[in-house]
Amino acid sequence: MARHLITSALPYINGIKHLGNMVGSMLPADVHARYLRQRGHDVLYICATDEHGTPAELAAKEAGLPVADFCAQQHDAQKAIYDGFSLAFDYFGRSSSPQNVEITQRIARSLHANGFIEERAIRQVYSLADERFLPDRYIVGTCPHCGYDKARGDQCENCTRVLDPTDLIDARSAISGSSELEVRETKHLFLLQSKLAGEVEAWIDEAGREWPTLASSIARKWLTEGLQDRAITRDLEWGVPVPADTWPELAADGKVFYVWFDAPIEYIGATKEWADHNPAERDWQSWWYGADADGVQYTQFMAKDNVPFHTVMFPATQLGTREPWKRVDYVKAFNWLTYYGGKFSTSQKRGIFTDAALELLPADYWRYFLIANAPESDDTSFTWELFSASVNKDLADTLGNFVNRVLSFSRKRFGDDVPAGAAAGDAERRLGEEVAGLLAEYEQQMDALQFRKAAQALRALWSAGNVYLEEKAPWLEIKTDPDAAALTLRTAMNLIHLYAVLSEPFVPASAKVLRGVFDLPGDDRSWITAEEARALDTVPAGTSFTVPPVLFAKITEEDLESYRERFGGSEA
Ligand code: MF3
Ligand code: ZN
Repeated sequence: MARHLITSALPYINGIKHLGNMVGSMLPADVHARYLRQRGHDVLYICATDEHGTPAELAAKEAGLPVADFCAQQHDAQKAIYDGFSLAFDYFGRSSSPQNVEITQRIARSLHANGFIEERAIRQVYSLADERFLPDRYIVGTCPHCGYDKARGDQCENCTRVLDPTDLIDARSAISGSSELEVRETKHLFLLQSKLAGEVEAWIDEAGREWPTLASSIARKWLTEGLQDRAITRDLEWGVPVPADTWPELAADGKVFYVWFDAPIEYIGATKEWADHNPAERDWQSWWYGADADGVQYTQFMAKDNVPFHTVMFPATQLGTREPWKRVDYVKAFNWLTYYGGKFSTSQKRGIFTDAALELLPADYWRYFLIANAPESDDTSFTWELFSASVNKDLADTLGNFVNRVLSFSRKRFGDDVPAGAAAGDAERRLGEEVAGLLAEYEQQMDALQFRKAAQALRALWSAGNVYLEEKAPWLEIKTDPDAAALTLRTAMNLIHLYAVLSEPFVPASAKVLRGVFDLPGDDRSWITAEEARALDTVPAGTSFTVPPVLFAKITEEDLESYRERFGGSEA
């Protein structure tokens, strides 16, 4: 079986993420990882918090905490939520880890040795009050073109003109409000991406052939616009330090690497964090470096705004080392999840944050809805109406109700063991054919990372059980032919077991409950074969079972009202 390396875009540390962040990265990656593990593949699913950069420093400042403490706290807070969503990372690391510092510095040294990093002096605004250089967008003032008094140093929001901080009238620091600013000359490291453009293009021509259009078209657009040399250091107190052995002057000056330089390297760093915590496992290099990593299939998950960094800039960094780093094989990119067609907005309290979602309903409700409606080929609009319709119909009625109806009815009529009844007949053979066909479809869509279509196939499997039950109507059969009723119930119980196994990537907690329904001590199968799907006999007669509590509660009109009120109305 193949080895699969899976990573999802690293969630930024500055606050709790909303559902839109999760649906385009961690959640589908988890579904994919679970599926591949169930199919017997060797899977390593890695994620981490992305902890450096100005927004992290500012958020820490706002929280009144040293930035290291703030990041440690936020890392734990995010990790707890992802556990709540049953995201089964092999490791959830931190880009501020010593492992990432080591590998980032090592990669920078290699780039330097190969002539792809250059020191350049630039002029930058320094704030005396804040005792720091200010990034352009942290300088505000009056726009020289339209007079707007809150224009930022990079652009005027009002007239959209691109600005230079020195254009601003009455410029001041956005952090302290101080106008004691001066322009100072300072040295930074530049990554000479322009020298690597040709190689990156050749690589995309080759590797990008199989990617979804969303990913490859964004990658190409960036290449066409030209791969510019780019400053990869910043004046911040928190970040991966520039190594003193290679750049003593910049190191003494306290320069750190730019967050987008060290963040993707943390995919590697977190793999080393994982390996350091799990000494009995393979070493990190066998996933990332040299011939050992040749057999690895590497898939990345991300929202579309992240695509340029992953398909162009990080590969350029890797190529420039002239070392055999593993590069991405498949880029699964997503469009946006909107809230009633508009943006999720923290400041306006519109949309749903991951912590609030878990307070409201169990993770499986969200997982199922979000993946079944993933913004794959287009944006998806979250509405409470769509959400509740889908939960009520698919989860509560089609899956949950089926399970409870079958198990309660059988217990009432035949007791605590799966009844034997008649031998399978035509109806069961037809059902078996249908289920085997749908299973093949489900596998095909899961293999192709087509999540919406995979969800459709899973839903069709759940529906097939309902159709069969309605057709056979064991509540009528029981009156004239108890053996026929027993056959129907036994077959339906086999479907429940099949659902338990196959639904796990989407709704792992519920799948676990379903798996526990039957007392099958030797049952260690992690998937269902085509033959098993056709025969529907993985749960033999005589197996004892229990009736679980209602799997999915329906969302009522009143619930809906209160959700709409709490999370913002429908007007975008
Ligand atoms: N933190 C970034 C974001 O939220 C994603 C970083 S992905 C990585 O958009 F590869 F750079 F880590
Ligand atoms: Zn303006």
